[in-house]
Amino acid sequence: MALALRLLEPVLRSGESKPLTDFLAETESALALAAGEKTGFLGRLADYVLTGSGKRVRPALVFLGSQFGKAESSAVAQTALAVEMIHIATLAHDDLVDEAVIRRQRPTVGVKFGEGAAVLLGDYVYAEAFRRLSALGRPDVMSLFAECTMTMCEGEIGQYESRYRFDLSVQDYLSFLQKKTASLMAAACRAGGLLGGIAPDRIRALDTFGDRLGVAFQIVDDILDIEGDEAVVGKTLHTDLIHGKMTLPLIDYAAGLSTDKERAAFQDFLRSPNGRVDAFIADLRRSGVLEKSKEMARSLLREAEGLLATLPDVPARTLLAEVSRRLSDRKV
Ligand code: IPE
Ligand code: IPE
Ligand code: MG
Ligand code: MG
Ligand code: MG
Repeated sequence: MALALRLLEPVLRSGESKPLTDFLAETESALALAAGEKTGFLGRLADYVLTGSGKRVRPALVFLGSQFGKAESSAVAQTALAVEMIHIATLAHDDLVDEAVIRRQRPTVGVKFGEGAAVLLGDYVYAEAFRRLSALGRPDVMSLFAECTMTMCEGEIGQYESRYRFDLSVQDYLSFLQKKTASLMAAACRAGGLLGGIAPDRIRALDTFGDRLGVAFQIVDDILDIEGDEAVVGKTLHTDLIHGKMTLPLIDYAAGLSTDKERAAFQDFLRSPNGRVDAFIADLRRSGVLEKSKEMARSLLREAEGLLATLPDVPARTLLAEVSRRLSDRKV
């Protein structure tokens, strides 16, 4: 749980956090148990992706969302497990799309076992997540995650199609983030609320909290892709730059270019960045766009925290606020 602790540690140190700490430990055990049910090559693949590091932010959101009402603990645990599985399956496929070689501090599934294995394992893990959700007997939770997974894929597909689209708008960029990343965080919060049986307006507040948190989370991820430390983040960086993905700092940078010559040089860099990435990053730093993107993430996180004010003052509310506060300057 090393990485999980590094992001959530300050949250887990607070006085009220023991139930969350215990819950995340149970989630780790449940992931290991699920991996242990398989044998042979599938068993090795499942063990590789289900156990090990991972911040487990989404299971934490399911648990904290459920704490605003009265939920059956086994349903919360199964849902959290399924959400982490959906996330893991998405990562297995995303790493193929992004040609990443490191994930969670070790070689990606594609590098370790072959790209075909990564495709098939991703499919398998999605299916297992949905089998577990269907066993809950909660059609609302089941359809929530089916729709959310479709939305995530739409976001990934949209962003894939938009590679090298140098005039991508901030609005389109944010819509990709909302779909590919925030939708699962929002669904995790919403599912917690649904299982807790809380009132619809509170479920909406939790959902919107997850949405803002998720968009901010991905903006910070996109900043880390540019200036993060690969050894600390534990995954391949610069994949956005290398694949012509216009993330927020690049959109702002492009908007700040005033001559055709500058614009041509920028587009030329993105089309063939090899050997020029460090110099470009130095340029981005000087331009101030990274700081501007960080401010946007901070502003979304403030909005997320503000939404918590409409929820009852239970320990989970304080913990959600702390999760949110941890995200703006996260390094992992
Ligand atoms: C990675 O998610 C994918 C994004 C949405 C940026 P995390 O940063 O939560 O990855 P893990 O689960 O900790 O590995
Ligand atoms: C993809 O975004 C987020 C997902 C929903 C998988 P990234 O491609 O930036 O995620 P990382 O950086 O590989 O974790
Ligand atoms: Mg990626
Ligand atoms: Mg990607
Ligand atoms: Mg990224």
